[in-house]
Amino acid sequence: MNQDRAPIRVALLGCGTVGTEVLRLLHDQPDEFAARTGAPMLVTGVAVRRPHKHPEVPEHLLTTDAQALVEGDVDVVVELIGGIEPARSLLLTALRSGKSVVTANKALLAEHGSELYAAADASGADIYFEAAVAGAIPLLRPLRESLAGDRINRVMGIVNGTTNFILSAMDSTGAGYAETLDEAGRLGYAEADPTADVDGFDAAAKAAILASLAFHTRVTASDVHREGISAVTPGDIAAARTLDRTVKLLAICERVVDEDGTESVSARVHPAMIPRSHPLAGVGDAFNAVFVEAEAAGQLMFYGQGAGGAPTASAVLGDLVAVARNLVVAGKGPRESAHAQLPVRPMGKTPTRYHISLDVADKAGVLSQVAAMFNEHDVSISVVRQQGRGEEASLVVVTHTAPDAALRSTVDKIAQLPVVREVVSVMRVEGEPS
Ligand code: HSE
Repeated sequence: MNQDRAPIRVALLGCGTVGTEVLRLLHDQPDEFAARTGAPMLVTGVAVRRPHKHPEVPEHLLTTDAQALVEGDVDVVVELIGGIEPARSLLLTALRSGKSVVTANKALLAEHGSELYAAADASGADIYFEAAVAGAIPLLRPLRESLAGDRINRVMGIVNGTTNFILSAMDSTGAGYAETLDEAGRLGYAEADPTADVDGFDAAAKAAILASLAFHTRVTASDVHREGISAVTPGDIAAARTLDRTVKLLAICERVVDEDGTESVSARVHPAMIPRSHPLAGVGDAFNAVFVEAEAAGQLMFYGQGAGGAPTASAVLGDLVAVARNLVVAGKGPRESAHAQLPVRPMGKTPTRYHISLDVADKAGVLSQVAAMFNEHDVSISVVRQQGRGEEASLVVVTHTAPDAALRSTVDKIAQLPVVREVVSVMRVEGEPS
């Protein structure tokens, strides 16, 4: 350890399950951290709303005045409050005065990332945020640094553990969404208010961060098409099973290249059927996994715990060590990379594939009426399966790739055909050749 180097002074904003683990790990291995960074690390304050709720934190460190803590004598601010305000103002204050930031705040980065980067750039401070996406999994640093020399074409993954737990349980039990959500709440996998997870907001913020890094383009949460899992039915899961597929909530960020070579970025979060043989299909419980396709590197998969105190603290501490190392050598981490600034493609124009399961009348001409709707919308069919059931038949169609709006219109038209008794399931298909 370099005993001569002044300590790196760390302020912690927020001390929930992640912050508590960060403090514990820093406290348990001070010499290790000092050896790794080249200077001792010293926590100078912990800002919380209710100090009496934190008996584990030494009393002299606790404060309710986060602003004063950030403005005080600190080198690095670790933000684990979450949400937009006051986190945004506090981090801008820190960055503008040259203090580096480590944050796990995906919502803030997905909405105000550029503002934070600009403040960091202006003062020469660092901003690191590995814990904001996929918890413990080293993913953002690989995108930001290890793959900086490659051309990434696709990032697709399971980035929300709560919804993965629910969909995995629905798949294995055949139970409905509502009862599985209740069970997830009882087991501690779903929050009391699960909206951010089940409606896809959490995953959309993460998709915005992933797309920004992968494609050197500013993508915000509002650019991400978002559908949650509350409309997924046991019928969807059963329909997927029939074709040896399973349903996952996916965040998909792609580079789309038109025939004339024009490039754009698509970012979306929605449930999708994937083949059971796909590596993402085997990701169960609350785990996260992300598939990256890059031109030179080929396919890469990142897998691990996407949430939880200790796993997320691991990512925070990795960032803290990186920032401390930069401070010791007067170096700087990566800046914002938004030079490509590709347009974001609207969902309607994004190429997707649909799996459509219908109950239809079992009589002559039905298939041709349904097929005519696909033809009308210039949607090519890849697979058709029909099974008679007395007066009715089950008809499953899987399409080739087409603009999402064309597929959606096709389904709307099919639903209006008198020979179609019920549209049992409509879901996008991912993870297989188009
Ligand atoms: N609530 C998130 C999840 C973890 O269920 O994965 C934090 O992003």
